[in-house]
Amino acid sequence: MQPLYEGKAKRLYTTQEQDVLRIVYKDEATAFNGEKKAEFAGKGELNNRLTSHFFEVLEAADIPTHFIERISEREQLVRRVTIIPLEVVVRNVVAGSLSKRLGIEEGTVLETPIVEFYYKDDSLGDPLVTRAHINLLKIATTEELDLLEQEANRVNAVLRPYFDEKGITLVDFKLEYGKTPTGEILLADEISPDTCRLWDKETGEHLDKDVFRRNIGSLIDTYQTLFNRLGGNTQ
Ligand code: C5P
Repeated sequence: MQPLYEGKAKRLYTTQEQDVLRIVYKDEATAFNGEKKAEFAGKGELNNRLTSHFFEVLEAADIPTHFIERISEREQLVRRVTIIPLEVVVRNVVAGSLSKRLGIEEGTVLETPIVEFYYKDDSLGDPLVTRAHINLLKIATTEELDLLEQEANRVNAVLRPYFDEKGITLVDFKLEYGKTPTGEILLADEISPDTCRLWDKETGEHLDKDVFRRNIGSLIDTYQTLFNRLGGNTQ
């Protein structure tokens, strides 16, 4: 069966049900807009388990998501949405591009979380965009942007204490949203160590894709450690 869509880390297939899609998590890791690429046996399975778990945590907190269920080691069923071409990034601690852009030291704790929008366009390198840019591009209305910002802050309000209890700082993360055929906006895509920065509270150890981006450790060992720290089991 041909995928409906193939991204860097996942393939998307239709199912017998019109409103339901099947996601298959790949073992591939990419960074820097696809410039750095490698395959890690077991990554797809770990990210499928982790992202399914985080979506369940959010659903339990009444946050509407596309997630239906994990159906196998690498697969999950989700509701069909049209992805809004924005990456919604929430930051609690300065790191990565924010540190570079503003010259603020990595690790500086933000008094209030910051929400940023990036335009999802590989050919442009996913640029940071203002609300005026988003209006200009007709990607979303002001009301929709208010909703995205509010919903992203709600996700942070659930996940930040969830990780904190496990001795992990949720530094920053990226979310994507989609619209159902009836116009409902749902949290979509994935939430995984590919899309979050997670630092051990005591040691500062990176428990996320920065180990791959920065060549500072084994991606699989790191994701497995995170999975174990969150109480994961492979049943
Ligand atoms: O690179 P930057 O500091 O802007 O990344 C902020 C957060 O968004 C990080 O957790 C990173 O993993 C995530 N991100 C992502 N996909 C992108 C860009 C950033 O998951 N294309």
